[in-house]
Amino acid sequence: MPAKKEVCNADEVKAAVQKVADGIISEFLNNSTRDFAIIGIHQQGVPLAKRLISIIKEKTGYSPELALLDISMYRDDIGVRQDLPQINETRIPFDMNDKAVILVDDVLSSGRTIRAALDAVTDYGRPGLIRLAVLVNRGNHEFPVGADYTGISLQVPNERKVAVEFVESDGQDRVCTIDWKKDQAGRIINMGKFNWTKKDLLSIYDLSAAEISFILDTAGEFKKVSQRNVKKVPALRGKTVVNFFVEPSTRTRMSFELAEQRLSADIINISASSSSLKKGETLLDTIRNIEALQADLIVMRHSAAGSHKMLADKISCGILNAGDGAHSHPTQALLDMFTIREKKGSIKGLKVAIVGDILHSRVARSDAWGLLKLGAEVRFAGPSTLVPREFEAMGVKVYHNLKEAVEGVDVVNLLRIQHERQQAGFFPSTGEYAKFFGLNRETEKYLKPDTLIMHPGPINRGIELDSSLADGPRSVILEQVTNGLAVRMAVLFLVAGCVKK
Ligand code: CP
Repeated sequence: MPAKKEVCNADEVKAAVQKVADGIISEFLNNSTRDFAIIGIHQQGVPLAKRLISIIKEKTGYSPELALLDISMYRDDIGVRQDLPQINETRIPFDMNDKAVILVDDVLSSGRTIRAALDAVTDYGRPGLIRLAVLVNRGNHEFPVGADYTGISLQVPNERKVAVEFVESDGQDRVCTIDWKKDQAGRIINMGKFNWTKKDLLSIYDLSAAEISFILDTAGEFKKVSQRNVKKVPALRGKTVVNFFVEPSTRTRMSFELAEQRLSADIINISASSSSLKKGETLLDTIRNIEALQADLIVMRHSAAGSHKMLADKISCGILNAGDGAHSHPTQALLDMFTIREKKGSIKGLKVAIVGDILHSRVARSDAWGLLKLGAEVRFAGPSTLVPREFEAMGVKVYHNLKEAVEGVDVVNLLRIQHERQQAGFFPSTGEYAKFFGLNRETEKYLKPDTLIMHPGPINRGIELDSSLADGPRSVILEQVTNGLAVRMAVLFLVAGCVKK
């Protein structure tokens, strides 16, 4: 059997689409008109749904509403399918309650997609009626699912996949059967889309611009979950996540924990004071004990730069860096970039000033790595003791004067003055720091009218940032917190798909 074999040509595809449309017209529009909507399931259900709407409108004058549905967060095979982490747009522009809806997909195969789609749709409300339309019904379903409207029935052996190609996405209309290809881990090899391949999130430095953009796109879909009535998806059902915070945290810890709950993971929280690190156990031993309990993911904050990388190479769990010393805080940088992109449309070409204790800041380094990769100009500003010229080697511009640093910038990100380091004498007093580098009513005048004010928190009000500005119209500080949840849901979901157990 050839690797790829055409089993239906363009004419047969056209006739099959017509047959599905006729079936829908016959049920909903022939005798009396019943209001209904069509939900295209990504990927190929979407072009099929659009074609069905076009035919129905042409034949009857009635134009059903279109919704888009991505079911990746509802699948039950995370970690098995390597192409799983691809999330597309879900858009439901109507109230699902009491609505008659037709789910549309290209192929009814195992039935898993439709099981997931039913779960997803019913999280948006309680439809009055759900029907299923497919172009190809291949038989051999694993789940007890049948289609109400079928274009073509095929009997295809299990070892072959049915692939529908449409002019809109593939340049031609046809149905093929292809070999399922398996990689060494027994997973299905990617079908040509962008794939997330990392089991750990260690540092923004390790990510390509495409990987950063992919996380931000994925986070956009997870943000919508938190805006629904049902703010939870089953994506990490059955996975165990351990939050291990060896350094204090409010925002990051809360945000990760809520993200894990929203993804339906089981969660264990450990802090340094309640762990055996206090009794002299090594970090690696502690983590190996967590691994022995079959944890899938470990979210860790630790004061030692590089500690996550050391562990990630030695254990099979996925490791997510929630901050390591002054080195890296990747999810903070991702939520900062998400917020900037959401507000400004794009990051390329923007000017971003980061002001404060750069020397000790994992946020500054992480933001700079990410923003530079996405094409922004990055400026570091603060006293010369906290912003040495050596940072220029990263590709940022260094300023020791606030007015010059923030002139013409699109974003100013204020960093916390770290009181715990004050005894080292990096600047004479917090009062003097506030006078020369604090953003307040006076120094706000240096900013453009549309400059965003950001802060990773916690804020020292009246020192690096005045309360009137922290709570003012330019401030996106609380939106950063909201977006942090979406970004953390996205990275947990993506790395979980790559943890091999
Ligand atoms: N922004 C941030 O990392 O805050 P926490 O230290 O409270 O987690």
